[in-house]
Amino acid sequence: MTELSPSDIAKDAAAAAAVKLVENGMRLGLGTGSTAAFMVRRLAEIVKQDGLQLRCAATSQATADLAESLGLKIESLDDIGWLDLTIDGADELDPDLNLIKGGGAALLREKIVASASDRMVVMADGSKVVEVLGAFHLPVEVIGFGWQTTQELISRTLDRLELTDRPILLRQRDEMPLLTDEGNYILDLSLEAIPEPARLSAALNAIPGVVENGLFLGLCDLALVGKPDGEVVELRAEDAEE
Ligand code: 5RP
Repeated sequence: MTELSPSDIAKDAAAAAAVKLVENGMRLGLGTGSTAAFMVRRLAEIVKQDGLQLRCAATSQATADLAESLGLKIESLDDIGWLDLTIDGADELDPDLNLIKGGGAALLREKIVASASDRMVVMADGSKVVEVLGAFHLPVEVIGFGWQTTQELISRTLDRLELTDRPILLRQRDEMPLLTDEGNYILDLSLEAIPEPARLSAALNAIPGVVENGLFLGLCDLALVGKPDGEVVELRAEDAEE
C-alpha cells in the first residue's frame, strides 16, 4: 500500500472519526471530494465488518460510482426522502461553521442533500479552517444559456456589495467548460474575503442564471478536523464564541 501524505493522513483521520457517528439503520448523505472518498472507503469497511443496514444517497456521480464499486448500495434522494446525517468535505470553514464548497463542482447536489438532512458533519484537514471565508474561490453554478450575461450580472452584484474588481473565471476541463452533474457551468469568484456571506449568498441566488452558490451557511453542525499526526479536533458551531 502506498504511504499517505501528511494531508491525506489528516483527511483519513477525519473520515475515520466521521464514520464513528454512523449507526445501524441510518439514512446517510455521502459527500464528494478526496476527504469524502476516504470516508466512503471507511464506511464500506464498517458496513462489511459490522453488517450495518444503511440507506445512502450520493452527492455526485463520482461518489455514487466509488460507493457502488465498494459494495455500498446507492439510492436516489427522493427514494429515501429524508436523511439522518450527511458527511461531506469542505474547501473552507469559518468559526461559525459556515462553509465554502464546490471545489469538486458538486455544490448543487451537496447543498440539496445537506439541506435534506437532520445533521451535516464536515471532515477537513487543518488547512481548511479560516477566520473569514473567501481566500478559496467561491464556486457559483450557472446555467449554460447566457452564461456570459450571468457573469456580467454577478460582476455588477459584486460591485454593489463593494467587492469590486474581483476576477470571475469559467471553470474548464480539457479547454472546454466543465459540466456539473446537472449539465451546468461553474464560475469561480476570487473574492479574497467575504465579510457578509449571507448577504452575498442571497444576492447571487437572486440572479436568474445562477442555480446555486457554494456558500453553505448554517447547515453544518460539527466539523471534524484531522491533523497530520492522526489526531482529530471537533469544532461545533456553538463553540464559536469560546
Ligand atoms: C466538492 C466539495 C468538496 O467537499 C471540497 O472541494 C473538498 O474537497 P477535498 O476533500 O478533496 O479537499 O465541495 O464539490
